[in-house]
Amino acid sequence: MADTIGAVILAAGEGKRLKISDPKPLAPLFDKKLIDFPIKAIFEFFAQVSVKGKIGIVTGHQRERLESYLSENNLSGTSFSFAFQEKQQGTADALKTYFEKCSWAKDQAYTLVMAADTPAIQGDDLLELWSLIQENKLDGIAATFETDNPTGYGRIEHKNKGFVIVEEKDATEEQRRIKEVNSGLYIFKTSFILSKIDGIKNENKGTEFYLTDLFQENYNVETKCFKDSDTFLGVNNLYQLAEAAKILRIRHMKKLRDEGVFFVDLAHTYLDPSVSVEEGARIYPNVIAEGNCKIGSGSVIEAGCVLKESEVGENVELKAYSYLESCSVKNGAVIGPFARLRPGADIGPQSKIGNFVEIKQAKLDKGVKVSHLSYVGDAEIGENSNIGCGFITCNYDGAEKHLTKIGKNTFIGSDSQMVAPVSIGDNCYVASGSTINKSLENGDFAIARARQDTKKGQAKRFLKKKK
Ligand code: UD1
Ligand code: CA
Repeated sequence: MADTIGAVILAAGEGKRLKISDPKPLAPLFDKKLIDFPIKAIFEFFAQVSVKGKIGIVTGHQRERLESYLSENNLSGTSFSFAFQEKQQGTADALKTYFEKCSWAKDQAYTLVMAADTPAIQGDDLLELWSLIQENKLDGIAATFETDNPTGYGRIEHKNKGFVIVEEKDATEEQRRIKEVNSGLYIFKTSFILSKIDGIKNENKGTEFYLTDLFQENYNVETKCFKDSDTFLGVNNLYQLAEAAKILRIRHMKKLRDEGVFFVDLAHTYLDPSVSVEEGARIYPNVIAEGNCKIGSGSVIEAGCVLKESEVGENVELKAYSYLESCSVKNGAVIGPFARLRPGADIGPQSKIGNFVEIKQAKLDKGVKVSHLSYVGDAEIGENSNIGCGFITCNYDGAEKHLTKIGKNTFIGSDSQMVAPVSIGDNCYVASGSTINKSLENGDFAIARARQDTKKGQAKRFLKKKK
């Protein structure tokens, strides 16, 4: 029978140093919250070892908000058990609360302990600890790492057998110089915790019960010192929150690069982990992509483009400084520079949207061209129609929005307006400068502008002489 594992996330702390109104575990990170990351790592780990594990979350500060967030956003259908820690008396007290409040916790052979504020840890890291505790038949193992800046972390002091963790506050000058530090991630035999935890005292500078006191000289415990300190960055302030986001973004983009995405300057590109990009795409610096975005193979995203919740097909060119929000751009389309695609813009294959064009809630079929300075809102435009410069859909009557429909192979001259609702058929021709408020049928021509009046040789009446 497979071993049973209980995982506990310690999330009762207030996170004062973060200076946000949300409790720390709900600090925003991409389109998610801080606590979603350790949860995801635990799920990954459970899947890798084919264990049907259980998750307990120790809550405290603003527990209602945290508990309702987790209950509503219940990942993969797993439900969490909550353990409310009334007073935040330290990490050992939090762990004790977990065993007291989660009825199943004591029955799991192993217990995995994580903090809510280390979002870069992945399933693979947990797996490594898991293999070691089993292979070496340990009672407990702590993930550690070496850093040139150990400030704030518990220092690891190795003994002949076993080791101890000395918190910053309690450390001597010499201990403070130790560079191997505690990450806050551990796996224990549950029976080991239960035999020791009641013995932990709060005789330290912070009068807190330290979970780290489970590690002592001569105990059957070891550290696993990880090479990559980024993985264990703890988020205590806004600087570290931004650093964590950067670590996760860069990790994601490096993976994309390994898969064949070309980044001109990865360090100055900002693709969130939720963004997928296919092989052969090329991304220039200062591109920002957030939320659920997809970029197809062979597409080129030039500098300064912003994409939110948008789908870009294959071989699309997004020229510099285009802004896309909840829209879709089909294969081979060319957008921008300086185009704005607002929610509901659906740009057909091989279409062309030029500079200073705004498109909102509009479906453009294959090969449509809107090349310059236009507003297309609440519209449908058929295949291969050409919209001239300075075109406007007058979609709003002050109270409601109305639809403009344009058929295929239609030509709309520059500086025309469509007073919606209005419908233009296929193969129509609208002369430039026309304000169209009556619908046209297939093949119609319309001109709606004042006739020109030319006065022979009369320009001199208007040309002012310079003094
Ligand atoms: C802890 C470790 C330290 C380690 C560091 C890594 C202890 C005593 N120290 O320090 O060795 O280097 O993490 O980031 O464990 N929490 C509760 N209830 C409490 C206290 C804390 O649930 O009563 C939770 C917090 O919400 C947090 C986690 O436990 O998610 C860690 O607590 P925190 O105060 O951040 O510990 P550190 O000082 O960072
Ligand atoms: Ca911390």
